[in-house]
Amino acid sequence: MALYDTGGFELTGAIFFSGKYGSTAQYAKWIGEATSLPVLDVNDANADPSKYDFLILGSSVMIYKLTIRKWVKRNLAGIENKPVILFTVSGAPSGPKLDAWIADSLPENLTSEMEHVALRGRLDPKEINWWGRLILKIGAWKNDDPEAKKEELEGFDFMDKSSIEPIKGLVQQFQAGETTSSKLVDPSRVTLE
Ligand SMILES: Cc1cc2nc3c(=O)[nH]c(=O)nc-3n(C[C@H](O)[C@H](O)[C@H](O)COP(=O)(O)O)c2cc1C
Repeated sequence: MALYDTGGFELTGAIFFSGKYGSTAQYAKWIGEATSLPVLDVNDANADPSKYDFLILGSSVMIYKLTIRKWVKRNLAGIENKPVILFTVSGAPSGPKLDAWIADSLPENLTSEMEHVALRGRLDPKEINWWGRLILKIGAWKNDDPEAKKEELEGFDFMDKSSIEPIKGLVQQFQAGETTSSKLVDPSRVTLE
């Protein structure tokens, strides 16, 4: 699948993450350590995606939406024309529910081209404020999956460093200029095989 020859130089990438209680930040840090890519919190003023050839976007899921969605909307010009890996951090595992929340949160031209890796996070009810606990109680009440209901009320810890492995593989491909995405890196830096 080597579509393009980068002429021997490495493409630059960065990890941009959005989370609240630390699990998305922890995954971003692990991915940063494993890939040597810089890690930026989207709340930092200097979190500028336009400086990079490819992007890893990490987002927690809250109330059926990706917390990174507003930042993506504001920075779309610097994101939409590049290869993107999205990692989500949620209570729910990968599946149609999570896919629908992603489709609801991000523009279609981005979701149709990006790679997605679903990671599972952590929830400690002691860390959540009264509003969050109320939201979770309502979610549990509406949820007809007994296992998920219990997790929403009692918390969970699915943090797993080994689950970042697929992202490491994708980054190596992106760095070598191998991507099935039609959104290729700057054409002036690559030559067609
Ligand atoms: C108020 C609240 C709402 C949440 N809503 C969802 C949800 O809709 N779907 C889901 O899968 N997980 C949900 N979660 C679980 C979080 O995605 C999970 O705890 C994640 O690890 C949090 O990431 P963070 O530690 O980076 O903030 C919710 C958690 C809280 C506190």
